[in-house]
Amino acid sequence: MDVAPFELERFFAEHEHGNLMLAESGIRPLPASEFDLDPGELGYTIPTAGDPDLRARVAERYDRPAAEVLFTCGTQEANFLVFASLLEPSDHVVVVTPTYQSLYALPEALADVTRVELSGPDWSLDPDRVAEAMRPETALVVINNPNNPTGRYHDADTVRAVYETAADHGAYLLGDEVYRLLAADPLPPVASLGEYGVSTTGLSKAFGLAGLRFGWVAGDADLVAGAARWKDYTTIAPPKVSQHVARQVFDREAVLLERNREHAAENRALLRSFLDEHDCSWYEGVGVNAFPEVPAGFESGLEFCEALVEAEGVVLAPGGAFGHPDRFRVGFGGPTDELVAGLDRLGRFLDGR
Ligand SMILES: Cc1ncc(COP(=O)(O)O)c(C=O)c1O
Repeated sequence: MDVAPFELERFFAEHEHGNLMLAESGIRPLPASEFDLDPGELGYTIPTAGDPDLRARVAERYDRPAAEVLFTCGTQEANFLVFASLLEPSDHVVVVTPTYQSLYALPEALADVTRVELSGPDWSLDPDRVAEAMRPETALVVINNPNNPTGRYHDADTVRAVYETAADHGAYLLGDEVYRLLAADPLPPVASLGEYGVSTTGLSKAFGLAGLRFGWVAGDADLVAGAARWKDYTTIAPPKVSQHVARQVFDREAVLLERNREHAAENRALLRSFLDEHDCSWYEGVGVNAFPEVPAGFESGLEFCEALVEAEGVVLAPGGAFGHPDRFRVGFGGPTDELVAGLDRLGRFLDGR
């Protein structure tokens, strides 16, 4: 099995150290001191699928029993387990793009993939395009809603129509919903739509807990059992400290989310006035990612991002990593003082050309 290099991770690895990151895709990280970090003994989490009471609590979100939720090391592992357990080389997958690279690179490593590529300015999804891409051997349709990098949040009718298309073909619809709780009014999750709905998510982006590496997959019993079979070979069990903190996060979920949504709104307003002032065209969606067009005078997002990091030590993400070389991604969920400092430097860079 051959998998493509993860372009964004490689770009970050080269430039992240010692520079100001305006390219993080989640909300600013919470300090560990907000939580009790002592779960008692540090043996394996037993059962390895995760604490049944906590899984039952998560499963309620999807109207499913605890057995239909599996705790994982982040959303990344949740997605990996779904792909690895579900896909055969003879299968076909439909992936709505642009999106986070693992959502198409892993299916492409395992099966045959059709990308349904959306375009700006508003990145809207016509469900008929998914219907047209379906084949008899389609086993899975993948969406990321709200989307990284565009911020587009497809509405309930659109997601329902895509779900019906997948279900009519006997294919699962996987919704990567890691940004969902940043929406003021989150849509019903995909795993609550019916037997073919699968949701993956975690605490990294909406809660600012990427270092916790805590996520889950929710779906029907067969799918979750298949994912669990693979998990025995990846991480075995969710980290015990992470599960202990996750319980506290669920206890305080409403307060944490309100705080984070306010923070996102404040930063969004700062970014909006900056982009307006600099005539940068962008789509204002949900979450803390924006995907503007590269300012005039640069050949590509890569040239722009490299020149900026060289001149001002500010890291943005080149759009080529998402298949759109004419754009760049800015993550505005970080600490407000860092966003202000980063935008100041970016402004100086643009004005000084
Ligand atoms: C759409 C999407 N899914 C998954 C991930 C990885 O999330 P986690 O930290 O929960 O593994 C990311 C990270 O940027 C993402 O954007």
